[in-house]
Amino acid sequence: MSAPYRLRLLEEASSTNDLAREAALAGEPADLWIVARSQSGGRGRLGRPWRSPPGNFYGSLILRLEADLATASTLSLVAGLAVAETIHELSGGRLAPRLKWPNDVLIDGAKLAGILVEGAMDGQGCWLVIGIGVNLESAPADLPYPATSLRAAGLPALSPEAFLAVLDGCFRGRLRQWREGGFPALREAWLTAAMGIGQLVKIRQGEREREGRLADLAGDGAILVEFDGGAMEHFTAGEIVFQH
Ligand code: BTN
Repeated sequence: MSAPYRLRLLEEASSTNDLAREAALAGEPADLWIVARSQSGGRGRLGRPWRSPPGNFYGSLILRLEADLATASTLSLVAGLAVAETIHELSGGRLAPRLKWPNDVLIDGAKLAGILVEGAMDGQGCWLVIGIGVNLESAPADLPYPATSLRAAGLPALSPEAFLAVLDGCFRGRLRQWREGGFPALREAWLTAAMGIGQLVKIRQGEREREGRLADLAGDGAILVEFDGGAMEHFTAGEIVFQH
């Protein structure tokens, strides 16, 4: 049986998100994965670089959705969930990665995968590029946070194509639920895999950093943080730092 997605597999790309974005703007139909074995200009969230040596997974999926951009962007959380489920499946149930809002995937507190979603409105809906980077073989050793790889977690070598086959199945199943019930249909599943709910955290937005308790996840994908005195605030962007 042929794969339910189209794949453009490249030896090297500057950034698969950049290529997918150019393709989406040029009218590329949905459901194309652009995967590169390495990237020379991989990008992470908040303008950070994403180091991309051969051996890991670097892929971007083009989607077209009849939704506004804020609603469609909740798919970045769905992608994190699908990555965690993919790893659970590939490890035969041994590994149960956790999700750190908005969409980092961690094993034992170390980052294994990150997601960068970009898109724009267009006609009756929007296009979205879901960029996913997963450390299959190696993780940089000198990051300001702990990072790990599937190899370090004890999994045998895995090609990006083999990883994609399982990832696409997991993501497509969750996308079907999202299309039927929106992000609220997936909120419980996301929370079950989430780390740190109830814990004291710092929430960082640009230069501003505040301390509070990670309280819950809203149906629109925002994180709820409770501050001194019980005031609860929604955050749709930012970075969570756990207190040790
Ligand atoms: C993050 O955690 O900061 C997000 C990292 C996203 C990296 C992936 S690798 C494939 C795609 N192409 C990019 O340039 N970035 C994303």
